[in-house]
Amino acid sequence: MVKIAPSILSADFAGLGAETAEVKAAGADYLHFDVMDGIFVPNISIGIPVLKSLRKATDMFIDAHLMIDRPVRYAEQFCKAGADMVTFHVEADSRDNILKAIDITRSMGKKAGVVIKPATPADAVLPFLPLVDIILVMTVEPGFGGQHFMHEQLPKISRVRELIDTLAPDCELEVDGGIDAGTAALAVEAGANVLVAGSAIFGRSDRAKAIEDIRNSKIS
Ligand code: DX5
Ligand code: ZN
Repeated sequence: MVKIAPSILSADFAGLGAETAEVKAAGADYLHFDVMDGIFVPNISIGIPVLKSLRKATDMFIDAHLMIDRPVRYAEQFCKAGADMVTFHVEADSRDNILKAIDITRSMGKKAGVVIKPATPADAVLPFLPLVDIILVMTVEPGFGGQHFMHEQLPKISRVRELIDTLAPDCELEVDGGIDAGTAALAVEAGANVLVAGSAIFGRSDRAKAIEDIRNSKIS
């Protein structure tokens, strides 16, 4: 079954514990934790201290998406702060340093993945594919919630699905950006099995209904 990962970027940061408990009760699978540094992306969000607090407040699987420059510098700290999985943008550092970040994360017993921005081709995941637990394909430019799904990314999702099926069949395929009840089915049809959704879940008062609507998404 497809996994749903609510992105707390669209949650009320003054009540993250309660917001998390609500999406957990509503059947969410992962909690997507967006980290932005104002350098790799033009926005600043949350980081290690917030992750530590959230770790104490929930037993949910925390999926930390690092939109930060040279993330290898912080891989160990995010693992220690309580992330269950950490994903690194391939555009954020050299290949060797991304490999090092993956190695640090896995050696700490956590899952690791790589992320590609909309302009980055599918084949950019190839050097990392046998070593990661997840590939994240962005379907908006990273930096902000509430943007429109980029339909032109669908062939790339399909291509990454082909690469995964051929080279690392246990690897998950996550998509992030503009996922809602209308677009979720398109991403799943292209091969995604983990759907991040921020505004489509936290922007609605009934989170259980919001998650159910995404799960029941059909291509119209
Ligand atoms: C964007 C973040 C996303 C964002 C998704 O840079 O990585 O996780 O929160 O938000 P929506 O679902 O509203 O596009
Ligand atoms: Zn994200």
